[in-house]
This record gives sequence, structure tokens and C-alpha cells, in this order.
Amino acid sequence: MKALVLSGGKGTRLRPLTFTCAKQLIPVANKPILGYVLDQIAATPIKKVGLITAHETGHFVEEFVTDGSKWNLDICYIPQKPLGLAHAVKTARPFLGQDSFVMCLGDNVTGQGLERFIKKFRTEHLDALIILKEVNTPSSFGIAQLDDHGNIIRLVEKPKTDMGNLAIIGTYLFSNRVHDAIERIKPSWRGELEITDAIQEMINMGCVVKAEVLDSWWLDTGKKDDILSANAQILDAYVQADVRGQVVNSTVTGRVRVEEGAQIINSVVRGPCVIGRKVLVENSFIGPYTSIGDDSKICNSSLEYCVVQQNVTVHDVERLEESLIGKNTTVTRSSRGRVIKLNVGDYSELAV
Ligand code: G1P
Repeated sequence: MKALVLSGGKGTRLRPLTFTCAKQLIPVANKPILGYVLDQIAATPIKKVGLITAHETGHFVEEFVTDGSKWNLDICYIPQKPLGLAHAVKTARPFLGQDSFVMCLGDNVTGQGLERFIKKFRTEHLDALIILKEVNTPSSFGIAQLDDHGNIIRLVEKPKTDMGNLAIIGTYLFSNRVHDAIERIKPSWRGELEITDAIQEMINMGCVVKAEVLDSWWLDTGKKDDILSANAQILDAYVQADVRGQVVNSTVTGRVRVEEGAQIINSVVRGPCVIGRKVLVENSFIGPYTSIGDDSKICNSSLEYCVVQQNVTVHDVERLEESLIGKNTTVTRSSRGRVIKLNVGDYSELAV
């Protein structure tokens, strides 16, 4: 079995961060979401991974993943135009050959790992296994309608009429029969070859297609959950108290990871939080559900429920909450009292 990881797309729903970064590389608890996806593949016996990239952001993805040796995986880069998930499979056909494969969207992660799905796919000799999760906005997803026994009745991409709320999440397992189905489908109204249509076609062709409802959390950082709630979820799920940096005259409580070279001076930090490498936190309060990226400096400020990326400076800011701050950014108090001075990129959102 191989793995196909999709790390292309335009990321329009996450601008401005995606002007300078692939959406799959936006850090959550100081690690790109794609890293969690590769961790889950590395925990299975799969070794060969095809990584679909987009022309605009492929080099960022390659910089992070390199040859895959960090995960002990063998990575093959496959550039693709953003013409749909089934088009990505079609593009990867030479890499996939006749093998069955697990396909993972690089911006989706679940609390469950892949082993259980691989086992079910193998032991039940399936042609496709899809994983479902209840959502509040079914019209934004591929939706599966099931009968009372859990068998699939039909699958529709972004349905306009009510057919339940079970969304198809970004983890799929396929036999090589998916390729014939993809050859038979046409692009959807959005001009994409939809994987949902291909799986429906597999059902029409008489393939064995099953669905399983996920009983853990699922994050789709490409849209549904914003990065702040994904950060909170991952901090809750994975962070353990681990102080490697220096803590001077400060209180650090709860599950806080302080990376090497970080310094916390005259401050209070309440977990769950991650404080990156070589970060300086001085005369400040860092509240729960906050991640501070490497090389950042937080001085005379108070932050809670924030994602701060690398090399950010925050100083003399009384209270920053629910904020997402991109790389190499400076946030300071204006020297002229209530005057606000901004230098903000396109598509930003500010609440002042
Ligand atoms: C894609 C799939 C959709 C699936 C979703 C999961 O949607 O087309 O079926 O439910 O991923 O994240 P897209 O991100 O292309 O809108």
C-alpha cells in the first residue's frame, strides 16, 4: 500500500497567510498541519508517499518535507494544477501504479490515526473506504447518505438539498479500481474532477465501497475550523508539560512546552501552551491555548488564545486575544495614545 498526500490548492480561504505559505504549512501548536498528517502515515507500515504540490507553493512544501527522512518515509513530489482531488489521483497514476493507497488531504487531521482504517480496508477486501463526520454546514462538503445499516445510498459533493450531515473527511482508502471510475467522470460545476463523484461512480460500477463514522475529532484547517480552534484542539490533544528553556522569576502552570533556548522572565504562562525555540517572554502573561513561534519576543504584553508564528515581536500590548499573527510581524502600542497605526497585508482582518 502507498500513500498519496494532497498539499496543493490555492488556499484562498486562508489569505493573507497563504500568500507566502502553503495552507498545509500553517503551524498549529508550532508545527505545520502537514507534519501531523505525515506523522500519522509514518505510524503505519506504509513507506512510499506521493506528495501532490501546487506550482505556487510547492517549494515551501519541499523545504519542510525534504526527502521525508525525518519521518522515515520515501517521498515522491508530484506537481499538479488545482483541478480537483480526483484529478490529483489521475496525475499520480504513474506513481500509484496498481497499488491500493490511502489518500490524505494535507490540511485535514483526525484524532484517530490510520491503522484502524487500513485494517478494515484490508480484511474486508474493499475497493474504497470513506470516513465520515457530522458537520453543521453540509453544503460545504462532500456528503454521504447512509441507510439504517450504515450502507451508502449516495454521495454528493456540496449538496444543495438536504441529505443529512455526514461529511466525507479528508482520509480515503482506494483499490486500483478508482482509476477506472475517474476515467468515467466529468468535471463538476466548479470545473474540478471531484473525488466524491469518482466514489459514487465506483458504487455504480459495483465496487465494494464502505463508510465509517469517525468517533474522534477532525480538523479541516483549510476551511471549516479556523486555525485558532485547530490550535486549541491540538494543544489539548498533544501537549505535555516539558520545560527545556530557562524560567526565571516566573510562574509556569499547566501543560506548557517551553522549547530549548527560550527564556521566560518575570512572567506568568498558563497552559496548554507552546513556547518555541529562542523565544523571549518578559514581563508578560501568556494565557491558555496560545502558541508562540520560534525566535519571537513578547515583552510587557498579555496574550491569550493566540497563534503567533515565527519571529514575531509583540511589545507593550495590554491584551491580545483570539489573534493569528503571521511570520516576521511586529505588534506594538502606538506612542501616541489611542492612535492606531497599521501596515497590514491584503485580505487581513482586524478588530480594533
Ligand atoms: C474537499 C472534498 C469534499 C470533502 C472536503 C473535506 O472539499 O471535495 O468532498 O468533504 O474536502 O475537507 P474542498 O476542500 O475541495 O472544498
